[in-house]
Amino acid sequence: MFKSQLKAISSRIQRQFDDIFSELDVVSVTQAMAYATNGGKRLRGFLVVEGARLHGINIETAIWPATAVECIHAYSLIHDDLPSMDNDDMRRGQPTIHVKWDEATAILAGDALQALAFDLVSRHEVGSGEIRANLVSSLAKASGADGMVLGQALDISAETSQKKLTFEDITLLQQKKTGALIQWAATAGARLAGSDPTALTKFSNALGLAFQIADDILDVEGDIDLVGKAVGKDGEAGKATFVSLLGLKEAKRRAKELVNEACEALKEYGEKGENLRQAAHFVIQRES
Ligand code: IPE
Ligand code: IPE
Ligand code: MG
Ligand code: MG
Ligand code: MG
Repeated sequence: MFKSQLKAISSRIQRQFDDIFSELDVVSVTQAMAYATNGGKRLRGFLVVEGARLHGINIETAIWPATAVECIHAYSLIHDDLPSMDNDDMRRGQPTIHVKWDEATAILAGDALQALAFDLVSRHEVGSGEIRANLVSSLAKASGADGMVLGQALDISAETSQKKLTFEDITLLQQKKTGALIQWAATAGARLAGSDPTALTKFSNALGLAFQIADDILDVEGDIDLVGKAVGKDGEAGKATFVSLLGLKEAKRRAKELVNEACEALKEYGEKGENLRQAAHFVIQRES
């Protein structure tokens, strides 16, 4: 159920990207944008569409914020892979943007994807002016200096910091770096419907942390051919992760605990929340 739904939503997002890019001139920056948004699990887009469905909003409306969050995510990955950040040559089994093109194109493709995301959430198809403003402002907060960008800054500065980060420090870093965007994705449907996002906020807070722990575990235990990106780099780079702090066994236990918390938060949705529950289990069982 979850797997087929994820696949269907992913194809629908790809169609949206194909339409959007077909209207832009074919130059290296737009080619890089199309390349960077093609592939990946599309979990954030899935969360938007599923969260929307729970609140009675159909996919033709939800597709705009779903595509928008995948734009921000793709931009964050392009910049994350740059030589001045994580310096990675491979992403989703393919050369990274600065390797396939060059650094300037990678920076600009990231910039343009970020701008595109805000264009998409403010399209008239999304809803009233009030709803669109709410989505724009919450997406800006989740992506910016109190969201993903803050988390990335904390992640980079931890590499060279003399101070060993505590459990609380790492929780904050990961909530911002990965959690903020996942939380926005999971709550966008409630925002579209003008309804209360509390349950989805709780769900995605736990899910976002579990997701990043799983990413950190894959860096240690993952098979490079399945993961599609370099492995074994976090320890070497001195990254602060739950794996580096707690060790693999305890990190895995914590990830499971978080998935149970996430599922618990969906109680009020009953059977309708089943796809999201399966998504939460998938997050820590995935091989890529
Ligand atoms: C990778 O995200 C970066 C993190 C936030 C850990 P994903 O694992 O969702 O990447 P794709 O989109 O599926 O490639
Ligand atoms: C990246 O975290 C998170 C963002 C891009 C915001 P990582 O650096 O751990 O992601 P991967 O492992 O390169 O995908
Ligand atoms: Mg990084
Ligand atoms: Mg990285
Ligand atoms: Mg990682």
